Amino acid sequence: MHADLVPSVHNGPLDDDIERVLIDEQTLQDRIRELGEMIETEYANKDLLLISVLKGSIVFMADLIRYIRIPHEVDFMATSSYGADVQSSGVVRILKDLNKPIEGRNVLVVEDIIDSGNTLNYLLRILRERQPASLRIVALLDKPERREVDIEVDWTGFNIPNAFVVGYGLDYNEIYRNLPYIGILKPSVYTRPEHS
Ligand code: PRP
Repeated sequence: MHADLVPSVHNGPLDDDIERVLIDEQTLQDRIRELGEMIETEYANKDLLLISVLKGSIVFMADLIRYIRIPHEVDFMATSSYGADVQSSGVVRILKDLNKPIEGRNVLVVEDIIDSGNTLNYLLRILRERQPASLRIVALLDKPERREVDIEVDWTGFNIPNAFVVGYGLDYNEIYRNLPYIGILKPSVYTRPEHS
């Protein structure tokens, strides 16, 4: 980790697996505040339902809704596109569906990262069939280089390079979601014969 990018709170051994911090905590919060303000303006005096795509988006969602100071509801969906593998399999499974119908609602899908675009492409298709009044996307991170399908993202936090990133909700083997920053994982972590 670069000395000038050491986070304010040490996260024990998790920090040691990070090659460098790509987006620090303050930069994340500043940008999420801006996104919240844009969303708030866009949906002022309108119905709004935010759908978080579990699990990666939980941290982003939790911070984002506190910057959207107008009445809104939240709901959750869970999909899975990756196994323990680093590469996207392109296969999307619905692990948990929404609690309520979305017909006639203004829906905003909240994603942590768009990589190949396969997850969102599939999700948008099934959500559209449920006839929401509107359907938009806010994604914290976008890796445009990796795109396999065209997705129109309404609000993006940061475009990032094609590096293996973890933290702020993003995992490797379900670990590192609690890091308060986005970091690039040391390749030695995911090339270890056994991850313990
Ligand atoms: C990640 C991420 C997106 C998806 C993006 O989820 O949260 O949902 O992959 O990749 P794509 O654009 O190539 O489809 P993941 O399946 O890793 O599950 P998680 O959010 O529970 O970690």
